[in-house]
Amino acid sequence: MDAKTEEGSNIFYNILVELFTSPLNLGLLGICGFLLYKIISGRKSPEPLPPKEPELPKMKRQDMTLEQLREYDGKGKDGRILIAVNGKIFDVTLGKRFYGPGGPYGLFAGRDASRALATFSLSDDAFRNEYDDLSDLNSMQMESVSEWEIQLREKYDYVGKLLKPGESPTEYTDTEDEQSEEKKEKPITEKKTD
Ligand code: HEM
Repeated sequence: MDAKTEEGSNIFYNILVELFTSPLNLGLLGICGFLLYKIISGRKSPEPLPPKEPELPKMKRQDMTLEQLREYDGKGKDGRILIAVNGKIFDVTLGKRFYGPGGPYGLFAGRDASRALATFSLSDDAFRNEYDDLSDLNSMQMESVSEWEIQLREKYDYVGKLLKPGESPTEYTDTEDEQSEEKKEKPITEKKTD
């Protein structure tokens, strides 16, 4: 074995030792494995294919309080799932295999997922029962929240704003609904300051 190959296998060996001897790394590895398993097993469709569920009608544009958001956790009559990220609410019902009951990210359903996404945490501590102004998050974490917002905006329907305590909901007109449909064509990259 030449010196270069030996050095390479040493690095590989050290990574393996580091991964498998630290309980924290082992735990993280376990969580990743579990999430991957849930995602992959959610992809498999049992045979024969069940009849396709009819798609839910698009939700009317509306702002909501945290309490109103909680009703859309996928366990309601129509199974609709909403999540909030960075003060914006999205209808993620189409991503039911992620956010539906039993899905890998089921605990986001009907909740503000900003802190969990910013801190890459799936623990209950990453959720607040009251409105979360995220003021203690650092700039990197806030940047990550904005990136998640852009990602969700591209994939799912925007429903409205998550209302701060005491904030009144906006009265949306049907025209605003259509305009926002056009906006969806282009990803929104600038951060809104409202
Ligand atoms: C480290 C272990 C993790 C692994 C291996 C993993 C794996 C994945 C994969 C493969 C996807 C894409 C699935 C697809 O498009 O078919 C995905 C999506 C996603 N992951 Fe993870 N993930 C991990 C941790 C996390 C954590 C800690 C969070 C949040 C705190 C998270 C939040 C999400 C979200 C929100 C999606 C997007 C679902 C959508 O498209 O609506 N993941 N993950």
